[in-house]
Amino acid sequence: MVKKEWIEKGFADEPVAESFDLKKEIRALCKEKNAVIMAHYYTEGAIQDLADFVGDSLALAQKAAKTDADIIVMCGVHFMGETSKIICPDKKVLVPDLNATCSLAESCPAGEFARFVADHPDHTVISYVNTTAATKALTDVVVTSSNARQIVESFPKEEKIIFGPDRNLGGYINSITGRNMLLWDGACHVHERFSVEKIIELKKSHPGAKILAHPECKGPVVKLADVVGSTAALLKYAVQSEDKEFIVATESGILHEMQKACPEKTFIPAPPTDGTCACNECNFMRLITLEKLYNTLKYEWPEVTVDPEIAKKAVRPIHKMLEISEKLGL
Ligand code: 13P
Ligand code: SF4
Repeated sequence: MVKKEWIEKGFADEPVAESFDLKKEIRALCKEKNAVIMAHYYTEGAIQDLADFVGDSLALAQKAAKTDADIIVMCGVHFMGETSKIICPDKKVLVPDLNATCSLAESCPAGEFARFVADHPDHTVISYVNTTAATKALTDVVVTSSNARQIVESFPKEEKIIFGPDRNLGGYINSITGRNMLLWDGACHVHERFSVEKIIELKKSHPGAKILAHPECKGPVVKLADVVGSTAALLKYAVQSEDKEFIVATESGILHEMQKACPEKTFIPAPPTDGTCACNECNFMRLITLEKLYNTLKYEWPEVTVDPEIAKKAVRPIHKMLEISEKLGL
């Protein structure tokens, strides 16, 4: 039974004996309950290895839309679980720790965004998937970093557009499309802290290394990059490239899949400005542990819920994104 103190904490912290084979038990619970484990590339390596599917935000949404499992366990942050729940309202969607939020989603409270939208009634609203359901409900079309460019370009050049909440991704899309979208002033605390100086230093000692950057990074980091793209796009480039060394400016969890796919290549995490650690981790993604995943499956809790009125509005821009992406073969 779910305990009262767990509800306050947002996750089940029932201890598991060291002798317990967590991975085996998790797989057994998945089979018994017809559950599917989906994981984002930023979760810890052990979670990615155990998941049925690992992907970027777009692929996770696409996979959720097609799954025939009864339970989706989303090993990622809350908005990823919420997106799955909105797409699959009849399924049980679980996120192992409800505290796994996202600084980008938090940087765009729906009430303030609603006022911003109301102040610009002639604008189309494009929102990054890293938003709460309530913010998506105010949106015309959702995008991820995998399809933002193509979706923005699917609108006429003269279309007036609000883009939220990531000022870095929005600024990057403006720069490559020649648009002048009105940007919400939000950012990801992880991608904002990459250090240009430290990346330049690193490049001096690895002159042959290609710099891979996520578009959530600040403009000066993106300018240094040889390749800019979503986690899936960066992984694909690393796999297909003839190059042997890469400096990776995104959350360091992606290095697990890169190294696994290309054991003969070298992947160097781009360092953050602060501290001595070479890695730049998303503290929210790291809340998802094997132990919490096991308890989540066992108790079928914590479950992601979305207010039905909000879900009714938020599902439209998500479906629009999925439809455009399918048409474009993304
Ligand atoms: P991707 O869609 O590129 O995986 O990005 C998700 C994310 O949260 C980036 O910080
Ligand atoms: Fe959100 Fe940034 Fe973490 Fe991605 S890395 S989930 S944008 S806080």
